[in-house]
This record gives sequence, C-alpha cells and structure tokens, in this order.
Amino acid sequence: MRQKPAMAALRSMRSAPSAPPAVPVVARLSANENPLGPSPKAMAAAAAAIPTMHRYSDPNNTALRTALAQHFQLQPDMVLCANGSDELILLIALAYLEPGDEVVMADGTFVSYVMRTGMMGAVQKKIPLRNGAHDLAAMAAAVTPRTRMVLICNPNNPTGSTNGAAEMQLFLSAVPDDVLIVVDEAYIEYATRSDFPDMMSELRNGRANMVVLRTYAKIYGLAGLRLGYALGDPAILDYLSKTRPVFDVNALAAVAGIAALSDTEHLEASRAQASEARDLYVERLTALGMTPFPSETNFIAVPVPDGVNDTAVVTAMAARGIAINSLGGWGLPGVLRISFGTHAENTLCLDALAEILATQ
Ligand SMILES: Cc1ncc(COP(=O)(O)O)c(C=O)c1O
Repeated sequence: MRQKPAMAALRSMRSAPSAPPAVPVVARLSANENPLGPSPKAMAAAAAAIPTMHRYSDPNNTALRTALAQHFQLQPDMVLCANGSDELILLIALAYLEPGDEVVMADGTFVSYVMRTGMMGAVQKKIPLRNGAHDLAAMAAAVTPRTRMVLICNPNNPTGSTNGAAEMQLFLSAVPDDVLIVVDEAYIEYATRSDFPDMMSELRNGRANMVVLRTYAKIYGLAGLRLGYALGDPAILDYLSKTRPVFDVNALAAVAGIAALSDTEHLEASRAQASEARDLYVERLTALGMTPFPSETNFIAVPVPDGVNDTAVVTAMAARGIAINSLGGWGLPGVLRISFGTHAENTLCLDALAEILATQ
C-alpha cells in the first residue's frame, strides 16, 4: 500500500499490548496529571449524565462554549472544543500545513508539535531553549516568508519554565500577520509569575493570527475524560472546525467541563499542592547537587549530574515502581522530568533518586 513519505518517516504509535510491568507502578510521576484527582463537581456532573449517554453530544458544544466564553470574557464563537488539546494540535497542523511549509518551535518542547507538523511534511526550525524557556527573540528572527506557523508552549513542557509579558509583546509585534501563532497554555493555571503574558486580552483586542490552547487534563484533573479547547479569532476557529470530527467531545466531558470551571476550591487546592511539591523538589534536588530548571507547573525537569546516565536512572526508578521520564527523545538528553504526585509519592521518589544517584 502506498504510504505518504512524511507519515512513513514517523514512529508508529501502536505497540503490541504490553505485558504488565515486572514491577507494578506504585508512583506514576510521568504524565503531569493531578494527584488530587478530578474536581468533585466535575465527577458529580459526569455521573449525572451517565443515564443519557446513549445520546450523541451536542456537536456545537453550545453550553460548554458559552461557559468558557463567560469565564474568559470572550464571545462563544471564539471557543472551539475538542477531544483534548492534543487533538487540536493535530487539527491545526492538518488545517494549515502543506509539505515544505516552515514551522518554528523550540528545541525541547511538547513532542506533539514535532509529530504533527512532521506528519504534514513541514520543515521544522527548532530554536534552542534559554534556561528552559523559549528564546522568543530568536524564534521571531527565524521566521521567513515560508513560515506558516510558530508554536509556543508557555509554561513549557517538559521544562516547566515560562516567558514573561514584555518579551511576548516584542515577539507578537515582530511576527507577520500571516503567520499563525499557536500558544499552548496547558499549564497556565499553575503559573506564578506576576508578569505572565495575558493572551486573553490579546484576543479580546482582536488579534487575528493567534490560537490559544487550553486543557482540562492538568489542573482540572480530567486527563482521562479528554477535553481541551482553542480560543481565538472566529474566522480561524471556523476554518479549523472543518477538520474536526463532529462528535469529538463526549457527552460526559461536556458537562464535567462546565462543572469543573466553577470548582475554584479544587483549583486552589491543586495549585497549593503543586506549589508545596515544587518547593520540596527544588530543596531536595538542590541538596543532591542538581540544578532544576525553574518550574511554574506540576512537574520539574532536572539535568542529571555529570557522568550519570539519565535513562539508567529512569530504569532503576522503574525497578522500584516509580515512573519518571528522561528527555532525550524531547531534545533534552541528560535531563529527567518528574511529575508531582502526592506528598508520599514525592518523598518516595526523592528518597529513591538519592539512593540511585549515590550508586551511579
Ligand atoms: C503542553 C501540552 N499541550 C497539550 C497537551 C495535551 O493535553 P490533552 O490531554 O488535553 O490532549 C499536553 C499534555 O501533556 C501538554 O503537556
């Protein structure tokens, strides 16, 4: 069967059903999930919708989009919901990229940008990070007349680092109007800096070449339910919606998403829990002689000490049932990423890491 060259070059995402791991996972600190679980209000709303799940969901997601629009003081036609923000990255690539188009992104950012733009045969210009955050000046300078899209992850996954408002403003004014700027804010609810860029006011002020991506998978604790959304100019979202499967937001996610928005108690508790975990990791990793990247998220990335093999550390941690990541495949060899768990999981992880590093 004929394959498309750009697709054939990608690694298959389907593996054989795997045998259960030799050591069961006791602390899953590898997927940046919320250790506090879902918002109780979201759980109640989803449970109440179970008896009607023989019905298709509203293809327009009217109630959810209205709630999100109110929340962000935008118009409902500036919201497009999808089956996770990962799906939106796919849809954006499908909608906008042709083989040979240039895309600019960081070297050491969310892997989906690489996979999805690569799938479309786009030419990727990867700009090295600066202290874990995007080098926005270098990214703007990398834009050429062939550039169709710039992808920015703020806070950045996998480093957790952020860019501030002043450098973002300079970047936005430097990028031509016909280049789509995708700003992925999956972790924004955890961000702490007071000058975090306000992309909502950019959108309210009519910026027409930007899509902001958000997700319910992180602080809202609904990763398994699959719900994300794009905020942007109505014309962009209308165009994007042509790529979208009609019923891609499931009925339970649609109601849980509305309820979760109003659960400020869960949001605050999750933020506080992550902040406490972050302090613990910074203190303990620093005491081990390591220098983590500045993090404003629910995970932390840290280069291993000189001479230590990062994948060997991940394997040794897995042998103790602790799942963490090494970031060679993300463009950051020698760096570990640890998602915050419960306090017990975090101390288990840090104790194990200290012991393993002592034997390296
Ligand atoms: C930066 C970033 N964007 C998007 C996603 C995808 O989120 P979702 O679960 O909504 O597809 C993730 C998930 O890890 C992420 O880290």
